[in-house]
Amino acid sequence: MAPPAPHSLPMPQVRVTRRLHFSAAHRLAREDWSDDRNRQVFGDCAHPNWHGHNYELEVTVVGEVDRETGYVIDLKTLKQLVEEHVIKDVDHRNLNLDVPWMEGLLPSTENLVVGIWERLSPHLPTGVELDNLVLWETPRHKAEYRGG
Ligand code: NI
Repeated sequence: MAPPAPHSLPMPQVRVTRRLHFSAAHRLAREDWSDDRNRQVFGDCAHPNWHGHNYELEVTVVGEVDRETGYVIDLKTLKQLVEEHVIKDVDHRNLNLDVPWMEGLLPSTENLVVGIWERLSPHLPTGVELDNLVLWETPRHKAEYRGG
């Protein structure tokens, strides 16, 4: 029997990543804690009058390589989806006050990366899934989320 033609073989699943940038202000502090305790737990991020971070977001998706394009997803499309559903809401905003989907949550890197996942995952094209998010708050500090 002849071997299967190459076009009938499953295409490999590949992960591709787009990196995006935004700047935002925040404050980490609990209203039900004293200033001292907030400073102890949250350090510089507890300063009362806000401060900013230059965030870097790495969005990784996984899917089959398309036979015609050789792409999992056109990275222009992925960039536009992230800009529409995440970046326009957070860039040059105050994460404590301006972002409806972060309301009631402390804007830690951990909470933010989970919020971004929930914003983004329903909007990916059929056959492409969100695989991993890495959110850098500073060049030395990141949070990573794979869903679930
Ligand atoms: Ni901070």
